[in-house]
Amino acid sequence: MNILLTGGAGYIGSHTFVALAAAGFTPMILDDFSNSSADVLARLEALTGTPVLCERGDVADVALVGALIAQHTIAAVVHFAGFKAVGESVAQPLKYYRNNVGGIIALLQAMDAANCRTLVFSSSATVYGDPASVPITEDFARSHTNPYGHGKLVCEDMLAALGTSNKAWRFGVLRYFNPVGAHPSGLIGEDPAGVPNNLMPYVAQVAVGQREFLNVWGNDYATPDGTGVRDYIHVQDLAAGHVAALQALLHGGAGGGSFTVNLGTGKGHSVLEVVRAFEQASGKKVPYRIGPRRAGDVAQCYADASLAARLLGWRATQTLPDMCRDAWRWQSRIHGSPRPAASR
Ligand code: NAD
Ligand code: UD1
Repeated sequence: MNILLTGGAGYIGSHTFVALAAAGFTPMILDDFSNSSADVLARLEALTGTPVLCERGDVADVALVGALIAQHTIAAVVHFAGFKAVGESVAQPLKYYRNNVGGIIALLQAMDAANCRTLVFSSSATVYGDPASVPITEDFARSHTNPYGHGKLVCEDMLAALGTSNKAWRFGVLRYFNPVGAHPSGLIGEDPAGVPNNLMPYVAQVAVGQREFLNVWGNDYATPDGTGVRDYIHVQDLAAGHVAALQALLHGGAGGGSFTVNLGTGKGHSVLEVVRAFEQASGKKVPYRIGPRRAGDVAQCYADASLAARLLGWRATQTLPDMCRDAWRWQSRIHGSPRPAASR
């Protein structure tokens, strides 16, 4: 079965590409390379042992997407394409609404016209805003604190409305918690441009000597050591979650309808736990300084991941040490080399 991955050259898309190929699907990529490099294609070929089909283009190009779906008899689409920097979404909201909300509208129009009505959507735990308690189940109230998060919420609502309008649509909405780590080969991973916003890439850059120390954003939260607690999930587990979601959507699993599930491990780890685990995995010191809280941060955010287990038979299997080991292998490989990354 042919599966179209919009944004498939990016961090999560590239890992999912490999997992889908291993599971017997034929994935193909549509990417405009606005946040990735075409170098990843050769790496995907090395990892899958087959030529990689990739079209350079914008997901908002209805004619292009429609033609791709028809020409390649696409059975389902996994929609990763979008921008993801929270701070930038506050500074440039229209850029985010245009690409993240406008993009999916165009994609759905193209799919509808081409009679392809099965979609997996990259949502985020950001739709829970500041959760009332943890662990978080899928029926928790949703909210948003920035245009990026608002966009995810609007997309989820649009999919629900479309599903109501035409029962032929099948949606798998996947709410990722905190994806980290890299493929165990060290060939693909995450390499954010500029100063990383997210914890794990920052810690990795400190460990490799690229940055002097980590700023820990607050140690006065109501958590065991006072630092923020998150549900870090290995990108390989996340990729497997997409395979499980597609199998359910295409083979009548999960009750034969649409679903919305958390993809997390169900375990929370503090910033200082991540620092210690990374030091162990890398054998390097990660110096840190305690700073003020970061605006918009919540104390704790981790999933109740039991619905995905029940509906999809999927569970995360990799631990924080596994995530740090693979993030370190990737970081030490790319350090000093000319940006060979999936995501830049
Ligand atoms: P990424 O930036 O590495 O990948 C996104 C890819 O989409 C890039 O290759 C980029 O070039 C491409 N792209 C962007 N706009 C496009 C467009 N208009 N047309 C075609 N291609 C386009 O990001 P990622 O971490 O792999 O995230 C994938 C998805 O998962 C995003 O929708 C993101 O919001 C969501 N998500 C990510 C995280 C995370 O922490 N990484 C967490 C929750 C949700
Ligand atoms: C952030 C985004 C969220 C997005 C997610 C994935 C914010 C407020 N939230 O989530 O919307 O879905 O990334 O892209 O930006 N930390 C430090 N020092 C650092 C970096 C992070 O102490 O240099 C701490 C944070 O305060 C937090 C934890 O590490 O407690 C994880 O941070 P991060 O990796 O940015 O993820 P989230 O805040 O969960």
